[in-house]
Amino acid sequence: MALPGVLHPFAVPARPADEFLEIVRGEACRVFDADGRSYLDGTASLWYCAAGHGRREIIDAISAQLHELEAFHTFARFTNRPEERLAELLLELEPIPDARVLFTCGGSEAIDSAIKLVRAGHKAAGDGGRSVFLSRHYAYHGVMLGGTSAGGLPANRDPFGTLLPDFFQVDRDSLPAMRDAVAYFGAERIAAIVAEPVIGAGGVFPPPAGYLEGLRELCDESGAMLVFDEVITGFGRLGSWFASHHYRVTPDLTTFAKAVTSGYQPLGGVIVGPRLREWLEADPMYLLAHGNTYGGHPTCCAAGIANIELLRSEGLPSRARSAGARLRAGLESLRDRPGVVDVRGEGLMQAIGLESPFTAGMFTEALLERGVIGRALPYANTVAFSPPLIISDDEIDELVAATAAVLEEAG
Ligand SMILES: Cc1ncc(COP(=O)(O)O)c(C=O)c1O
Repeated sequence: MALPGVLHPFAVPARPADEFLEIVRGEACRVFDADGRSYLDGTASLWYCAAGHGRREIIDAISAQLHELEAFHTFARFTNRPEERLAELLLELEPIPDARVLFTCGGSEAIDSAIKLVRAGHKAAGDGGRSVFLSRHYAYHGVMLGGTSAGGLPANRDPFGTLLPDFFQVDRDSLPAMRDAVAYFGAERIAAIVAEPVIGAGGVFPPPAGYLEGLRELCDESGAMLVFDEVITGFGRLGSWFASHHYRVTPDLTTFAKAVTSGYQPLGGVIVGPRLREWLEADPMYLLAHGNTYGGHPTCCAAGIANIELLRSEGLPSRARSAGARLRAGLESLRDRPGVVDVRGEGLMQAIGLESPFTAGMFTEALLERGVIGRALPYANTVAFSPPLIISDDEIDELVAATAAVLEEAG
């Protein structure tokens, strides 16, 4: 059996080439394969396609920018209008008041950048002994060495040998456990607590009431920084622009990616709040020796501007709230079916937890047969749904009906 030339991410390297599903086209909430079959995109690709597929406004903005200036770097004194404008738009949304933005090419780079910025900030403040990063079991923070070390999914850590020192994971939802960890390592040694406000790839687990507020208090008491990884939750998915708004907790840094461009171009970044800014800006001779070749790429930023303007003009964060409520109600109606152990989520990030005879992997295969794309999250034997924020009521009903049919079939 021939293997594909591509070594696919998060896939079995030995999988034969003819088992891959080639997606060739997208339109609104649907994508089409090479044989012309249509699928309802119940996952917005990998959580990112908030605005839906094939949006002319974003495509035209990318094309116009390519004709004007396809790319030029932004190191040292160079800048460009799209990156400045996108930063303005992001800061107007105020994930953190009085902040600045560092652009990266995606979420993993954003997390590793945040880790380095935290370290550099403490060092610049004369507090470089703060080396310990605490994070949550089941968290996913991307695939670079920093994010892998902060991540709490064993399957993503175990194959890769020794990770960074001083990174520790704590029970996912336990504030007392996080408090104990801070006390154990010593408050003066904690650099940051890094948290996905809603655990995503680890199974879609919203935080218990008071948990994020508790992390904020713990950081204030200990002098550590609070980093929210909003790579999934940013740009409307929860029904608010950011999880920091949704849960009314302001972190010191926020990482973002994915829906900032709805995936039309790769882009991510770190929102750097006033506390870290102050330290980095205090010495006029201080050089921030960090950043990517493509950070602030004008074409990617043009996609971000058009996307955010579209999310704004179409009120898509609030659409996520109503669409999410409908999806939740639909899934709740299946809660008593054999094989379903849980229904949970927030906004348009919803999931069903499964038990035997179902595995999440076979469930999403069965959904695919019915023309619906769901996301298997094997760690929690869960299937997640996070469709584009433009999803119609009829399409939500279609997604729920397909889920019910798969449950029925096995029952
Ligand atoms: C919460 C979170 N952080 C970071 C990342 C990594 O982002 P990327 O895949 O763009 O590198 C992801 C990707 O799914 C994510 O869900």
